[in-house]
Amino acid sequence: MPQLAKRIGRAKPSAIMQVADKAKKLKAEGRDIISFSIGVPNFLPGSHVYEAAREALAKDSGQYGSNRGADALLDAFLKHMEGIGLTGYTRANCSTGIGAKHILYNLAEALLDEGDAIAFAIPYWTSYMDIAEIVNAKIDLLPCPPEQDYKLTPAQLDAALAKKPRVFLFNNPSNPTGMVYTKDEISALADVIAKHPDTWIITDDIYNRMVFDGVGYHNFVQARPELRDRVIFVDSLSKTYGMPGWRVGFMAGPEVVANAVTTMNSNHITNLPEIVVAASVAALSGPQDVPEEKCREFQAKRDQVMAVMESIPNLVCPRPQGAFYVFPDVSAYYGKSHDGKVIGNDIDLCNALLDSKGVACVPGSAFGEPRSLRISYTCPTPQLAPGLERIREFFNEMQ
Ligand SMILES: Cc1ncc(COP(=O)(O)O)c(C=O)c1O
Repeated sequence: MPQLAKRIGRAKPSAIMQVADKAKKLKAEGRDIISFSIGVPNFLPGSHVYEAAREALAKDSGQYGSNRGADALLDAFLKHMEGIGLTGYTRANCSTGIGAKHILYNLAEALLDEGDAIAFAIPYWTSYMDIAEIVNAKIDLLPCPPEQDYKLTPAQLDAALAKKPRVFLFNNPSNPTGMVYTKDEISALADVIAKHPDTWIITDDIYNRMVFDGVGYHNFVQARPELRDRVIFVDSLSKTYGMPGWRVGFMAGPEVVANAVTTMNSNHITNLPEIVVAASVAALSGPQDVPEEKCREFQAKRDQVMAVMESIPNLVCPRPQGAFYVFPDVSAYYGKSHDGKVIGNDIDLCNALLDSKGVACVPGSAFGEPRSLRISYTCPTPQLAPGLERIREFFNEMQ
């Protein structure tokens, strides 16, 4: 049989999906499972989004569309960007894709030749590693442990950019930690970026509308407008609007980068489907009450999760201020046992928690931080308190 390409040997199935699949299997066997594993928002968009999709279906042209994205969609995205303080961009600065993941993949293909360096923080969203490996980039990981609230410091960034990586990939608010950089923190990092002109900056900010406690969302380009020549902003409808399966992502940045992503599109997806485009325009331009209400709900759920985390002895859990994740450092429990099983690491712990209590969380090693585990708290509200109680019981039972 002929061989597969080498890059396929570097591509791995998602670690998060492996946990989710095990939880699904146990559920199918009749077990009572509460899932804190997949990072899905678990709500549906407003009715105006479905109405727009139905209307588009009624007048479907059936034709190919724009490789960059329909004008109406780009305009709605530009308006959304203005709403979060990113002004002065035009359609020529933008492109669209099948979700932010596809945009990030296109950017990796467009910006990185084999062996070029990409730097990003640990903990990282799993696909950063997977995509960087597929394109055979040299990966420079910047450890951001819980002691520094999982956040990158200006000194770390300065040292990383001094090595002139082709790309620095940033994520704010963060998956898996839920941490949000303050205005001053973004400003300090932007000052460092300004000193190092040889690196593209990708800022994956898809949770920009899910920020709590009045911290606000801040961006390198607002802090230092001259950085717009190198900063590529990535966004998505998936989390904000409860539309992960609709697969709509965006980028805005220098024209040359938007053109490169558009050229990539022309060679694989061609365009987003007309009906998806209409629904997306409605989501971005229509009433914003669903995302606003969900943001308030997630903040309250964050408080509920944190109250339990703080009640468990020896967990170290920086308080997240965005997205819908909590990422406790559980390593103080490694070496102890539960139900006679020794818990050596995050994978043992997540397996024991799932087997004994029916609660699915994702081991931190999926995000490069084996001391922690990720709790995604978007489950139906009635499941949250019992799920958290089971976690508390589990840790209390460890010996
Ligand atoms: C940080 C981050 N970036 C990108 C994505 C991908 O989003 P999309 O559904 O738009 O592909 C996710 C999804 O979990 C994410 O958490």
